Amino acid sequence: MTILRHNEPMHPNIDSELPVGIFDSGVGGLTVLQAIRDTLPFEDLVYLGDTARLPYGTKSPASIVRYATRATTKLQEQGIKLLVVACNTASAVALDRLRDLMSPLPVIGVVEPGADAAVRARPGGSHLVMATEATVRLGAYRAAIEARDPAAVVREHPCEMLVSLAEEGWNSGAIADSIVGRYLDDATESGFEPDGIILGCTHFPLLRDTIRAAAAESVAIVDSASTTAAVVKNTLDMAGQLRQSDAPGTVRFMATDGASRFARVGSQFLGAALEYSDIEIVDL
Ligand code: DGL
Repeated sequence: MTILRHNEPMHPNIDSELPVGIFDSGVGGLTVLQAIRDTLPFEDLVYLGDTARLPYGTKSPASIVRYATRATTKLQEQGIKLLVVACNTASAVALDRLRDLMSPLPVIGVVEPGADAAVRARPGGSHLVMATEATVRLGAYRAAIEARDPAAVVREHPCEMLVSLAEEGWNSGAIADSIVGRYLDDATESGFEPDGIILGCTHFPLLRDTIRAAAAESVAIVDSASTTAAVVKNTLDMAGQLRQSDAPGTVRFMATDGASRFARVGSQFLGAALEYSDIEIVDL
């Protein structure tokens, strides 16, 4: 039996200097990338947005697994030490398949950390999960929350149009207010009163202020970005695979289509200017 001790490399052959790979269907995962940069400023990161196939949220499970598998293989070819599936839809539908593919490298999804954040914010509470159709269909958040907190009440609601609003940069104003209001009305009909809202799609943190304004003041609004970053840090630390350098980490961006659009919309997600020349277009 091999006993792993704290800080002893879990996989001694994995180079701790390799970057962390982060994948999303588009630019939404940049909210997770930003949290990882804040938590682990010395790690190199490589991000792949599968913008050619966005949205994943309306696709069948078979298509989502196929797309996510290709994206993972692309990042694996670049040489990474850990994969973050920074897409709720791919995490809900394809995580087991991606773990098989990447084994023995660790793969971290965003649903479990999001469920942790929700249960911590409102133990025994009523949670409204705003997510894509595919994430809702799989009931991934419900399962993850109920496993952590059997007293929790969970309602999941598909909010597909919020992906388009975030992609368009229409995160506030009359149109955003009206669409968010409509989704919340539908989700809370028959008297459901959530005391927590989970932003169960990596695009939705951009609409946080609009959702905040539409929800009751006492409602906690959580997403998975910072809890996912904490899981990444803990996983690398426990495996002794944190990068041994005090030089700031680098970030490399890849997308499967639309470098200009990625740069424009991605700048909003990152809160920092991206140029189209910063984005490498790749084929999967
Ligand atoms: N990034 C996806 C998610 O977090 C939303 C966009 C899509 O449908 O591909 O679920």
